[in-house]
Amino acid sequence: MEITISPAEKIEGQIRMPGDKSISHRALLLSSLADDMVEVEGLLKAADTLSTMNCLKGLGVEFEETGGSVKVKGKGLRGLTEPDDVLNAGNSGTTARLLMGMLAGQPFFSTLTGDDSLRKRPMKRITEPLQQMGASISGRQNSELLPLAIRGYDLLPISYTMSVPSAQVKSALLIASLYSRGTSEIIDYYNTRDHTERMLHYLGAGIERKGKYHIVMKGPARLKGDKIRVPGDISSAAFFIVAAALVHRGELYIENVGINPSRVGILEVLKAMGAEIHILNEKEYNCEPVADLLVKGGAKLKGMEISGEIIPRLIDEIPVLAVAALFAEGETVIKGAAELRLKESDRLKAITLELRKMGAGIKELSDGLIIKGKASLSGARCESHGDHRIAMALATAALFAKSESAINGAEAVEVSFPGFFDLLNGLAY
Ligand code: S3P
Repeated sequence: MEITISPAEKIEGQIRMPGDKSISHRALLLSSLADDMVEVEGLLKAADTLSTMNCLKGLGVEFEETGGSVKVKGKGLRGLTEPDDVLNAGNSGTTARLLMGMLAGQPFFSTLTGDDSLRKRPMKRITEPLQQMGASISGRQNSELLPLAIRGYDLLPISYTMSVPSAQVKSALLIASLYSRGTSEIIDYYNTRDHTERMLHYLGAGIERKGKYHIVMKGPARLKGDKIRVPGDISSAAFFIVAAALVHRGELYIENVGINPSRVGILEVLKAMGAEIHILNEKEYNCEPVADLLVKGGAKLKGMEISGEIIPRLIDEIPVLAVAALFAEGETVIKGAAELRLKESDRLKAITLELRKMGAGIKELSDGLIIKGKASLSGARCESHGDHRIAMALATAALFAKSESAINGAEAVEVSFPGFFDLLNGLAY
């Protein structure tokens, strides 16, 4: 599907984002292991979370959809049943990786696969520690690639220091630790997103943070809770925040966005670049901080270096940050983001290639980007590379080109943000 985007001068309105994707996956997965029914309100309804629901249905979990919420009929820690077919995680890395942690604890055989993109993404980062815990896992290239065959076991606790900055790895190990007898310890010097820790705590698992980097959890655990509220996704909001900060005129108010400190790198960087963003009406949903955001257009942005500890806290927002950097004064350098090459597409390559088609001065580094500011973009015909965040970052850039642009493969947005283009169209003048 090809979508055309026209240049905009003003962004104005009051909007809500779809549910946070990371929290929605965790709500579905962890509620399935709860002793009773859990009502999930504000769940993201998109291709990725549908993949999680379908895999869980394959394991015997039932869902009831009523109005704005989904009731998950928890099966308890030991209540899942052997799937009679291959579980398919589609395009969703979070589904595949978190589910692997869950399947590692089941006393039955299962197979897990994904789409063309997911079958190329690295899995050894998870299969190896899960094998250490006692799970039997085999797959192509020494258990690096999907499809994987998993036979669970009575798992051993694990003491593990994260070797890559991945919340998916950490979460898979925490979920597997629910099934082990003893105390597991995970050391995450990268401080990746901590939604799993917060939700496990909310659902009553014996999980604790010791100091800044150590997570300690006692297994086996019983999970209980009647309601989970999912805040709006800051990663989806990022496209609108950047658009609203870059236009000359207008104000955008975004309600109920998750502002977990492990996710707000985008706000910190945009503010440091000079954008006017206000955080209002702060509250909390099930141990997750939430707020409204007010973004005012017309500020002058300055380029900067983005590297170090902040990278895991804005990893998914780098394509759209590159767009913001194009219109700042001076150069922006992004370093330490090699993980971006392992996402739904090689995002460093994809964003460089596509923004160059619009005339941007952007250079790919092995682990980052160099972006020349004060760009003057021309409308162009671009490709999404089958990646939702590339499609949305290109749409954001296209608002500031001199003429109309076209984005091919625009259907990729269905993965995290159905309705993205209609929403954007309704706000941009
Ligand atoms: C996610 C973690 C990140 C992120 C992805 C969602 C999660 O991936 O890029 O979009 O929900 O845990 P990694 O864990 O591979 O860094």
